[in-house]
Amino acid sequence: MSPTAGTAAGTALDVAGVGKDFRGLRALSDVDFRVGEGEILGIIGPNGAGKTTLFNVICGALRPDAGRVVFGGRDITGASPDRIARAGMVRTFQLMRPFGSMSVLENVSLAAQHRRQSRHGLRKRSLDVVERVGLGEWAHCGATELPTAGLKRLELARALAMRPKVLLLDEVLAGLVPAEREPVLDLLAALREEDGTTLLFIEHIMAAVMRLSDRVLVLDQGRVLAAGSAEEVTSDPRVIEAYLGEEPGGDDD
Ligand SMILES: Nc1ncnc2c1ncn2[C@@H]1O[C@H](COP(=O)(O)OP(=O)(O)O)[C@@H](O)[C@H]1O
Ligand SMILES: [Mg+2]
Repeated sequence: MSPTAGTAAGTALDVAGVGKDFRGLRALSDVDFRVGEGEILGIIGPNGAGKTTLFNVICGALRPDAGRVVFGGRDITGASPDRIARAGMVRTFQLMRPFGSMSVLENVSLAAQHRRQSRHGLRKRSLDVVERVGLGEWAHCGATELPTAGLKRLELARALAMRPKVLLLDEVLAGLVPAEREPVLDLLAALREEDGTTLLFIEHIMAAVMRLSDRVLVLDQGRVLAAGSAEEVTSDPRVIEAYLGEEPGGDDD
C-alpha cells in the first residue's frame, strides 16, 4: 500500500506502480503519483517519454503490465475506456478525429450521449458546451470545415459534453498560435474554479504549464523524473538535462 498523501481534499486519481512494455520497449516503469480533487497536474517530458501511453493506461485504452489505477477510490485497472468515461474520467486525443460528415453540434451531442440524459438535456448540454468553448457560430457547420484551432476546441467540447470529474488533456494547445491559446487556458482555469474539475494536462508549452499547474510531473524514458511545483521542476538539473538530451527519434536507454 502506498502512503497516504494527507491532503485535505480527497484523492481523485491514484496511479500506483504502473508499468507498460511494448515488445521489450519499457514505455512506463513504476509510475507513481496522486492527483487531488480539483487539482491541476501538468505532465511534461521529452518526446517518447511515455506521456500519451500514461493517459492510455489511465483511461483504459491500454492495460498496464504492472500496477494499478484507482479513480475516486475504485480500482479501475483494466476497465474499458467507455466504462471509465461513464464513471467520469475523460480524455482528449492529441490527434483529433471528429466525424466529418456531422456538424459541430452533432459531434458534441454524440459525445454527450455517453452520459445518460433526456433528449432535451442532451441538446441543451451540447449547445452550452459548444458555446463555452467558443464554437457557437460554428455549431451547425460541418466539423471538417473547422480550422485547426476549431478542431482543438471541438475535441475539448466533446470531452466536456461527457461532464468529466477528471479531464485528461493531451497537448490541447499544440498547433495554436499564442492568441488562440489564451481563451483555452482561461477555459481550463474556469473548469477548475467553477466546476471543480480535476485536470491532468500534457503540454509542451511551458508558459501554459507554469500558469495553470498546481504541480508538475516530469516523465523521462517512462519514469517519473521529478514532481513538484513548476518552479521546482524547471530548475531541477535532471529535468534540464533530460530536455537538453532530447533529439528526434532518440530512444536509447
Ligand atoms: N502502441 C504502441 N506500440 C508500440 N510502441 C509504442 C506504442 N505507443 C507508444 N509506443 C512507444 O512508447 C514510447 C512512449 O510513447 P508515448 O507515450 O507516445 O510518448 P510521449 O507521448 O511522451 O511522446 C515511445 O518510444 C513510443 O514509440
Ligand atoms: Mg504524446
